[in-house]
Amino acid sequence: MSFSVAIDGPAGAGKGTIARYISEKFNLKHLDTGLLYREAARLVIEEGGNTLDVVRLEEIAQKVDTHHITEENLRTEEVASVASQIAVVPSLRRVLTQKMRDFSNDITLAYQGVVLDGRDVGTVILPQADVKIYVTADEQVRVLRRTKELESVAMQTVLEGIKARDARDGNRQTAPLQIADGAIILDTTFLSIEEACEKVAKIVMQGMSDILVKTKIS
Ligand code: C5P
Repeated sequence: MSFSVAIDGPAGAGKGTIARYISEKFNLKHLDTGLLYREAARLVIEEGGNTLDVVRLEEIAQKVDTHHITEENLRTEEVASVASQIAVVPSLRRVLTQKMRDFSNDITLAYQGVVLDGRDVGTVILPQADVKIYVTADEQVRVLRRTKELESVAMQTVLEGIKARDARDGNRQTAPLQIADGAIILDTTFLSIEEACEKVAKIVMQGMSDILVKTKIS
């Protein structure tokens, strides 16, 4: 049995930490899908920052190697902003989505399945995921969390970055951030990260036992 968990939500909602926790607790292979967009953005910036040349953007997307992305230098506001600008381009998304699906289909016996987190995991990448969760939180709380993470960036800059990304990610034509059909919504505004992780762990556990029951019946 290969079990799949899709976790989506806006920046700073806690989905990355939750996905890592779930991955360790249930032995699921994990992919932070935002890192692929960030890696493509890094390559774009390296080439001079042209976010409009869609042919080149598709070529850059081809270069992204799902198995060799290092987070170093990818967690900056500049990279995040360029990532969300290029994420509106359908041809680039097609290439990265395929890479994410390939990653998810390549599960060795060492794992029970996969957990992917991002913006369109439950809606586009893995619409058949066994468990779908939409993690959200109030904008102010998300800004505070991100400011703590980024340390040297002013809160106003983080606020503007998050507002711009929320707007672009939520309003783009292709794969906008949306609550997937069948997703359970978790609002983490008043939860500690530990509480949020435990809530999601319970949901995943329930999903796993539902599947076991179904497998036994059929
Ligand atoms: O999750 P993270 O903040 O690292 O993602 C960076 C950007 O990549 C997002 O703002 C979004 O524009 C894009 N992204 C996406 N689809 C995903 C994951 C990330 O469009 N599945």
